[in-house]
Formats: sequence, C-alpha cells, structure tokens
Amino acid sequence: MPNTIRVGVIGTGGIATSQHIPGYQALEDVEIVALCDVVPGRASAVAENVPGARAYVDFREMLARESLDAVSVTTPNFAHRDATVAALETGAHVLCEKPIAMNLDEGREMVQAARKANKLLQVGLHMRFETESQTLRRHVEAGELGEIYYGEATYMRRRGIPTWGVFTQSEFQGGGALIDIGVHALDRALWLMGNPKPATVLGATYAHFGKRTDVAAPRGLWDVEKFDVDDMGVALIRFENGATLILRACWAAHIEGNIVGTRIMGTHGGAFMSPLRIHKDMHGDMVDITPTGLVETRPHAAEIAHFIGCIRGEGECIVETEQVLDVQAILDAIYESGRTGDVVRLDR
Ligand SMILES: NC(=O)c1ccc[n+]([C@@H]2O[C@H](COP(=O)([O-])OP(=O)(O)OC[C@H]3O[C@@H](n4cnc5c(N)ncnc54)[C@H](O)[C@@H]3O)[C@@H](O)[C@H]2O)c1
Repeated sequence: MPNTIRVGVIGTGGIATSQHIPGYQALEDVEIVALCDVVPGRASAVAENVPGARAYVDFREMLARESLDAVSVTTPNFAHRDATVAALETGAHVLCEKPIAMNLDEGREMVQAARKANKLLQVGLHMRFETESQTLRRHVEAGELGEIYYGEATYMRRRGIPTWGVFTQSEFQGGGALIDIGVHALDRALWLMGNPKPATVLGATYAHFGKRTDVAAPRGLWDVEKFDVDDMGVALIRFENGATLILRACWAAHIEGNIVGTRIMGTHGGAFMSPLRIHKDMHGDMVDITPTGLVETRPHAAEIAHFIGCIRGEGECIVETEQVLDVQAILDAIYESGRTGDVVRLDR
C-alpha cells in the first residue's frame, strides 16, 4: 500500500460534504484526488474547496482515469451497488454509505465483488463508532452482561421527514424511515447483542404523515406529491438462539420528541443508552454502573479513520459484511411482513 492513500468520492451531496470529505481531510497521508456527482457542476463546486481534486459527472470515467486506493460511495441508495462494484473492480477499497443497498440481492452482489477483488467493503454504520456504543460493546464482550436474550432498538423522530434529496421515493431509496434510520438502530443493537443469527421477523410499516400537507413541518414540507415510502416501521425479530429484538423507527409521529435508544438485557446484566447505564446485581444489591470520563468522539470521523486504518493493515474492519447482510435481510423481511401480514422466516 502506498504511503499516501488516494481517495475518490462518488456523490457529493449532504453526507459527502458534511462528513466524508472533512473526515478524509483530517487524516495524514490521505489525499482526495477525485470527486464525482451526476448533477453537472456539483462536484466541481465542491472541488473548489478540495485542493488538487478533479471533478467528474460519470463515476465510470472517474474510476477509469484515476488510480484510486479508496472510494466513498455517498450517492442515494439506488446507485450504491453499481458504484461500489465498479470501484471494487478497479482495485479500490470502498466505504459505502448505509444501507448497503436497496435490498439483499444487491447487497450480496457487492459483498461478492469485494471478495473477488480481495478489497475491503465497509458500510457506513457509524453508530457503532459512538463512544458509548464502543464502551458497552467492550463490557458485553467481557461477559459482563452474561447471555443476551432481549433487545430494543429505537430511532424515532417527532418530525423529521427529509426535505432534501430523494429519501421519500422508493425507486431511489428502496424504502423510507425504516431503511433510512431504522438501519442504524437495528445494526447497533444487533452488534451489541453479538450479532445472533435472525430466524423470523414479524413487522409492519405505516405512512400516516408523508402524504399529508396538514401536519406540522417546522423545517419545511417534504415533497408530498412524490412521497411513496413508509414513515414508520416496527418489528419483532426472533433469533436462532431464542433471543428477541423489538425495533421501532419513524420519521414522524405524535410523540414527546426524538427518541433514540438501545436497550439490551442479559442473564447477568442489562444496559440502556443514552446516557449509558449498566444494570447489575452485586453482592445482593441492584447497582447501576455509569461509565464516567468517556471521551466523546465524532462517530463519522472515527468511522473514516477506521476505514483508512484497515486499508493500511492496522486492524480488522469491525463492520463485517456478513453482519451487514443480516441487517439488510431483516429490513427486507420487515417490508415483506408489512405487505403480507405474515411472519417471514429467514434462512440465508
Ligand atoms: N450515515 C449517516 O449518518 C448518513 C446520513 C445521511 C445520509 N446517509 C446516506 O448517504 C447517502 C447519500 O445521502 P445524502 O444525504 O448525502 O444525499 P444527497 O441527496 O444530499 O446527496 C447524494 C448525491 O449523490 C448524487 N448522485 C446520485 N446518483 C449519482 C451517481 N450515479 N453518480 C454520482 N453521483 C450521484 C446526487 O446528485 C447527490 O448530489 C444515502 O445512501 C444515505 O442513506 C448516511
């Protein structure tokens, strides 16, 4: 691996400019050499603040002309597969934003392409890199909670239907609130539970806000005409080891405010975040352990540093692709269960 890692970014919208580009720029011996966006002028406008970066409108042209070591795929979900596979085939490592893809079949293709190219494919599930997630995971791995048999994963916004991009159109994103923010809550809870194998899923999705113009929209109204996705998804997931997880995700609901949290319960301890508390019995008493002095990290920056570190051979990627495929399989199953009303059995 050369000393300087040459990076290209495909899709120079919100998450690229707010997180990926500054994330790479903060690292030593990492150079962003190419930026691509399908909207003419968008990548070149971003390139004005990225010295040395050339701008493209076609990612295939960018990949053919540049010799890239690493590529961030930060397009809407419909383009994740093609951009990721193409980048892997040119020999680049890829950090692809979440969800891995529109559905499991596409995700599998991407993972196969990474295996074939023998390159890293990391998916942008940045909640694993939050300080409290990392701390709790260490306690779980040390056996502090015993055998984990139950979890709750919640990412609920009182009013947060995206007003930009194509988040509310199924042909571009594959779904709505569930695939957009439910993916984060689901992934973090599964990771904290030790990624048990999913067996069955019962789910439901709702769309009681997205098509309406009579609801409060403090940050402006989304494109109500084009809205055709869920604004809420819920599920009960049962695992092969008997554990269960309840998932709740929404962009809009009549609730007291935004609720983001993870609870896990084990035979020897339980935990809730945020703020992180670990609940145990000790010497005949019930105790709550509050980790103190935690140093807050910026999870996206930590995720990008991890990606670059893995490329340099400094460690194994903590976002394992098999785990990411399980997440996508569960999301697909929730949508299917929502459509049919039936329990979906997973046998990947
Ligand atoms: N991890 C996180 O915290 C987080 C937050 C926001 C978004 N995301 C994910 O990042 C992705 C992008 O979201 P965003 O908010 O930046 O959206 P966005 O709409 O702001 O930006 C996406 C950009 O991709 C460009 N694009 C579309 N198709 C392309 C193609 N074929 N080639 C090159 N460029 C293309 C669009 O023109 C746009 O500029 C989504 O997958 C989303 O789920 C992750």
